[in-house]
Amino acid sequence: MQSNESELLIGGLPAAELADRFGSPLYVYDGNRIQAQYRRLNAAFAHFPHRLLYAIKANANLNLIRLLLAEGAGLDVVSAPELQLALRAGARPEQILFTPNGVGFDEYEEAIKAGVCINIDNLATLEHFGATCGSRIPVCIRFNPHIYAGGHSHIQTGHIDSKFGISIHQLRHVQRIVEAHDLNVEGLHMHTGSDILDAEIFLKGADVLFEAARSFRPLRYIDFGSGFKVAYREGDTVTDVEDLGRRLGQRLAAFAAETGSQPEIWFEPGKFLVSEAGWLIARVNVVKQTVASTFLCLNTGQNHLIRPMFYDAYHRVVACRPARPETKRLYTVVGYICETDTLASDRQLPETMAGDYLAIANAGAYGFSMASNYNCRLRPAEVLVLDGQAHLIRRAETLDQLLANQVELEALKPTQSAS
Ligand SMILES: Cc1ncc(COP(=O)(O)O)c(C=O)c1O
Repeated sequence: MQSNESELLIGGLPAAELADRFGSPLYVYDGNRIQAQYRRLNAAFAHFPHRLLYAIKANANLNLIRLLLAEGAGLDVVSAPELQLALRAGARPEQILFTPNGVGFDEYEEAIKAGVCINIDNLATLEHFGATCGSRIPVCIRFNPHIYAGGHSHIQTGHIDSKFGISIHQLRHVQRIVEAHDLNVEGLHMHTGSDILDAEIFLKGADVLFEAARSFRPLRYIDFGSGFKVAYREGDTVTDVEDLGRRLGQRLAAFAAETGSQPEIWFEPGKFLVSEAGWLIARVNVVKQTVASTFLCLNTGQNHLIRPMFYDAYHRVVACRPARPETKRLYTVVGYICETDTLASDRQLPETMAGDYLAIANAGAYGFSMASNYNCRLRPAEVLVLDGQAHLIRRAETLDQLLANQVELEALKPTQSAS
């Protein structure tokens, strides 16, 4: 966070002024912070051939995608619409990896037609792909390495009960399908979850995939997914990506020496690139004193940022321009949705009045992209601050847009009562 002591700055601009200018609630992203995160990760793996594919599910605004494409990123997409968005953003097909799970083959056909890298996460689809495409189209195979990792249980994907990937114990079955259809396996893939602090977890996964790689012809790439942990609380530690880069480089060198092949190493960061760059700025509608707490009721809620409710995620809350920063009080910060949408409990914040702005941190990833229209609330505008300039990159939604796809049946329309 940047601050000039009395107010929150985002990319050098006062958050409260951005909210005054563009309205609230408002998502604001610090573009230079996104670039810095990309450059840090890229440098951590610079000593071996690698590729960073931005997982656009984290935040699919075209401008953020383009900012990362300009840095040299590829893109990880998980659905046909995300694929279309990636192409619309300007990515070349070969820069895109299609990593859906549990989708119909029609979505794969769309991706095959588009010429992007195909990642398959179940045996039935792999077999169908083999029968349909044979060796004509290269393919990547997503394994589940059965490694328990990640923060909240909803974001752990490598365990035995997870729906994701093909169990590593089914490697022999995969080989049978590959041989039967002469599949051109160009990559192996895993993603064990999100919020993984310990580099050792990634290395364990690397060991599993390097071992599996010996069962295939030389691979073009091995993709270790993502899950790098970012800082949520003040003083939080993050994944030591430089240490991971060093140790992974050693593993790769040993693999190359033994097998004579050196695949590229791919990662698919989402959170690491955009989480900390994003803030959700909201206005305090009401300060509500109850017998147990003081609630700050915001003009936003789980419709705009669901992570605290869905993942029990901790998001820092910062007063944008506190009138009396030294006078701290204990507050619980809640949304305006007809649910218990508590954004933050028992936080020490400067004394706050109705009309003040608060900013919720780590809102760049899985914030807007998971937003909904629940309670018929409209989604907010988004602003990108780049090199000290604020740019509107999404207008706030309108009621007409909310209603655009509703079909009103003539027979049920209210009639004008004759008086
Ligand atoms: C396949 C895959 N790749 C990459 C990511 C991005 O993970 P993160 O946001 O933790 O970096 C996800 C997140 O769910 C994922 O499912």
